[in-house]
Amino acid sequence: MKVTLSVIKADVGGYVGHSESHPDIIAKAQECLNKAKKEGMLIDCQATKCGDDLQLIMTHQKGTGNYDIHKLAWDTFITGTELAKKMKLYGAGQDLLTDAFSGNVKGMGPGLAEMEFEERTSEPVLIFMADKTSAGAWNMPLYKMFADPFNTIGLVIAPSMHTGYVFEVHDVKEHKKIRFSAPEEIYDMLVFIGAPARFAVKYVYHKETGEIASASSTERLSLLAGKYVGKDDPVCIVRAQGIFPAVGEILEPFASPVLVEGWMRGSHMGPLMPVSVADSTPARFDGPPRVIGLGYQLNNGMLVGPRDMLADKSFNLARHHANEMADMMRRHGPFEPHRLPLEEMEYTTMPEVMEKLKDRFEDLV
Ligand code: 13P
Ligand code: 13P
Ligand code: MG
Ligand code: MG
Repeated sequence: MKVTLSVIKADVGGYVGHSESHPDIIAKAQECLNKAKKEGMLIDCQATKCGDDLQLIMTHQKGTGNYDIHKLAWDTFITGTELAKKMKLYGAGQDLLTDAFSGNVKGMGPGLAEMEFEERTSEPVLIFMADKTSAGAWNMPLYKMFADPFNTIGLVIAPSMHTGYVFEVHDVKEHKKIRFSAPEEIYDMLVFIGAPARFAVKYVYHKETGEIASASSTERLSLLAGKYVGKDDPVCIVRAQGIFPAVGEILEPFASPVLVEGWMRGSHMGPLMPVSVADSTPARFDGPPRVIGLGYQLNNGMLVGPRDMLADKSFNLARHHANEMADMMRRHGPFEPHRLPLEEMEYTTMPEVMEKLKDRFEDLV
């Protein structure tokens, strides 16, 4: 049977500050989704959180970019925002950039990862969600999962994976897309995806069959809004096993934390720390950035799960390393490379200061 898996997220209000989501907001969202499930619009649904971001995980048979599903998500975020305002939570409705729904949540503030596929005899899927970081943060993990044999041994020894994968990369500033075939074109591809602020991996496909393997949210809030309103806090769906990497190969990149853009005021580089859902509570300097990973077995579209995959003890050392990296980065205070370079700060909190001082600059003689 054909199933669509839609993960749509937005920050509709934080508790306390930007550190967490209030359980009443998640419960309210679940209520909205349950109603749609009862009416037959959804096969299954779960509302959850990553830090201060409300996550809607939905299965249905309406395909990607469907009006009804996107409207349901939008209305749920509006309902959540109303409650957040009533509770005086922080930054209520932060990620909703317009008042009126225009047919698709794309470009309206929420982040979106969706894919439609024929459900296999057994269909394990992983859903990654991050807080305090930007779209593009999945570039390196996806590269490792689908193109790096040091991460994914299946690329070498599994005949079903040996021909490789196709990456669809989006230029989020110029609104263009390009496909790269791995492994033949990895050097070309790395020129672009090594710059995740501009180029983000949107989809990955199994080369031989064309089957969709992964979908990510690539919406850049600051580019949509023209100013800093909050971080993208992206999501990513990855199918596992068979012609795709094994669950453990998909989790492996998160065992080696790397620096991503985000953290305090969206203006810093910091380590992406793998955590449980319960520990997705950015605290120190509003961070460090967090990633959670929920595992499901789909059963005729029903979400059997979640298993809280990154809660596992095998990520303890990664958490420790991430905290050490956080310490090292914090030592730089307001200096680069902790603080983002000036071009990126253009979309964060700095433009007003630069504007105020621009007339005081004199020519050097
Ligand atoms: P305020 O200026 O509203 O305190 O927000 C700062 C902040 O949280 C940065 O995102
Ligand atoms: P969020 O994007 O998670 O709301 O974080 C905003 C921020 O500026 C934290 O300092
Ligand atoms: Mg927030
Ligand atoms: Mg957030």
